[in-house]
Amino acid sequence: MCGIVGFTGHVDAKDILLDGLKRLEYRGYDSAGIAVEDDSRINVIRRVGKVSELVSSVGENDCLGGCGIGHTRWATHGAPSERNAHPHTSCAEDIAVVHNGIIENYLELREVLEGRGHTFTSDTDTEVAAHLIEEAYKGDLLDAVRSAASQMIGAYGLAVMCIHEPGKIVVTRKDSPIVLGQGEKGAYVASDIIALIDATRDVVVLEDNEFAVMTPDSIEYYDRIGNAFEPEITHIDWDVDVAEKGGYPDFMLKEIHEQPRVVRDTLAGRMSGNEIVIDELTLSRKELNYVDRVYIIGCGTSYHAGLIAKNLIEAWARIPTEVEVASEFRYRNPIITPTTMVVAVSQSGETADTLAAIRDARVKGAKVFGITNVLGSPVARESDGVIYTKANKEIAVASTKSFIGQVVSLTLLAMLLGRVKGKLTLPQTRMLFSELADTAEQIEYILQDTSAIDEAAKYFEGRTSALYIGRGLGEATCYEGALKLKEISYIHAEAYAAGEMKHGPIALLEDGFPIVAVATKSPTYDKTISNLAESKTRGATIIAIATEGDEEIKKVADYVIYIPRVRDSFMPITASVPLQLLARSVAVARGCDVDQPRNLAKSVTVE
Ligand code: G6P
Repeated sequence: MCGIVGFTGHVDAKDILLDGLKRLEYRGYDSAGIAVEDDSRINVIRRVGKVSELVSSVGENDCLGGCGIGHTRWATHGAPSERNAHPHTSCAEDIAVVHNGIIENYLELREVLEGRGHTFTSDTDTEVAAHLIEEAYKGDLLDAVRSAASQMIGAYGLAVMCIHEPGKIVVTRKDSPIVLGQGEKGAYVASDIIALIDATRDVVVLEDNEFAVMTPDSIEYYDRIGNAFEPEITHIDWDVDVAEKGGYPDFMLKEIHEQPRVVRDTLAGRMSGNEIVIDELTLSRKELNYVDRVYIIGCGTSYHAGLIAKNLIEAWARIPTEVEVASEFRYRNPIITPTTMVVAVSQSGETADTLAAIRDARVKGAKVFGITNVLGSPVARESDGVIYTKANKEIAVASTKSFIGQVVSLTLLAMLLGRVKGKLTLPQTRMLFSELADTAEQIEYILQDTSAIDEAAKYFEGRTSALYIGRGLGEATCYEGALKLKEISYIHAEAYAAGEMKHGPIALLEDGFPIVAVATKSPTYDKTISNLAESKTRGATIIAIATEGDEEIKKVADYVIYIPRVRDSFMPITASVPLQLLARSVAVARGCDVDQPRNLAKSVTVE
C-alpha cells in the first residue's frame, strides 16, 4: 500500500525513480510524484493517476540531479489529488518526504505544528512528517528524522531528503517494508526488492525503528539510539524477469500460466522417506500431536485458501479448524489455548489486519505459523515459523499463483497433521502426495485450450451480477472465483453453498441470470446437479466447471468448462484455474485494467 523509492548516486536520479515507481505501482496507483534536488532547490513533480501520467509529465530537462525520492500512492488520508500526492515538503521547501503507512496521531501533531506557525498544503497524514523534521532540524538530517519518528504513532516507511545536506537520503521504518542496496551507480531504497533488483541482488531489509543514511557511495545503518551497526545482507536469487510480462498481455495471465511451476516448486523437497516434511514448523511431532484446534486467519484471497484448508485438515487430521478474516479475529475473543495452532496466511506478509491478529494470538499463547510469499516480510518475522509459498513475486493485484501456492502449502500442512495424528497411513499419504503433484500437469492441460472459457466469458457481456455456487470444496472454491470476477471486472458476484440457493438467492433469478457452478465429480455431485436444475427451471444460465467425460452435466448447464478428473480434495487447485481465466476474459472484454483494478492495492498495510 503505497510504494516509495529513493536513489542517490553518480547519475541522474529521475529515470531510476520513475522505473522504480513503475515496478511498485501494484502497491497503489491513484497518484505519483518525485522530488529531485539540484544545486539550489528540491524540484517536485506530482500527478494524479497512474505512474504513466507522471512519466509523461516529466520533461527531459525537468528534475535533473543525482539525488531524489519518489512515491506511488493508494489514498488513505486525503482524496487522490495533486496536492495530496507525495512527495510532501516542509514550509521552506527545503525538506521533502515520501511515506508509506499511516501516522495515526497526525491530527494532534498537525494542530501543534500549526500552532507553531507551520502551514499545511495537503490533507494527508504524511505532511506532518515533513514539518516535524523541519521543526527538529538543527543541521543534522538523521537527528531530525529520529526526533520526528519518536513523535509519530502508527506505521511508516519514510525516505527524506534535505537541500542543506545534498546527496543524502535518510530512511526509517516502523511496520512498513523498506529495503536498501548499494549498486554501481549509487545507493537505492524502495518498499520492495523488485524496484532495486536491477541494480543489486544484495539487499538489506531494514527492521522497525532502524535508520539508514544513504550517500552515493555508502549506506550507513543506525539503531534507534544512534549506534551504528553492520546489517545482515540478504542475497536475492530470483530472476529479474518476474517484473516483465514475458510476452503475455498482462501480468495476471502470465502469473496464471506460472501455476504449474508454483505447484512443483512448493512441493519440492516436501516428501522425504515417505513422510511429509515441513521443517519450518518449529514444533516436534509430539507437540504437533497435542494440537487440538486450528485457526486459519487471512484476508481476501488468503482467507479463501484457508476455507479450502479447513476441509482438508478436518478430513485428514480430524482437528476442529476455524477460518476467520483477520480483521474480525483480532477484535473477537477467540478461544486460544497452548494447544491451539494459528496459521496466518498472507501473500504480501504485510497485511495490517493479519499482522495484528498474529500479535494478538501470540500474546494469548498460541503458536503462530505464517504462510507467505515474501522473504523477510513482517508476517515471516513475527511468526513462530514460516512456510514460504514458492510463487515468486506476484505483480497483478488480483492474486492467482500465490493462491495456488497457499492452497498447496496448506494441503501439505493438512497431510502432515493427518500423519502426526495417526489418521493418515503412509501409503495413503504417499498416494495423496503423488496426486497433489499431478495437479501441476493438470493445470498445464487446462491452460492448453481455453476456448470454452472464452466462449463462456462472452455471456457476461452486459451482465451486472452473477452467483457462484458449489458444495463442500466446491463452495470454498466459488468464494475465490467470485472474488476474482468482482475484483477485476467490477461485476457483482457472490458465492453461495449450492444447497442454500433455495433459502434466499433463488429469489434473484430471472431469465438469463448467470450462475457459475463448480460441479465436478464429488460425493455431493448429484445434489449439486439438483440445485442447478432448480435454478435452470427459474431461468438461470448455468456455466459449469465439470469433470471431463461428464455428459450428464450438459442437461443442466448452458456452458461447460471441463477439467481433468481429480480427487475432490485437490479439485480447488485445478478448478480455480478456469475461474481465474473466466474472470480475466470477462474483465478484458469490458476494457478493464486486469492488473490494476480500481480502488484496490496489492498489499493493504492499513486497517
Ligand atoms: C488485498 C489484495 C488481495 C489479497 C488481500 C490479502 O486486498 O488486493 O488480492 O488477497 O489483500 O493480502 P495478503 O497479502 O495478506 O495475502
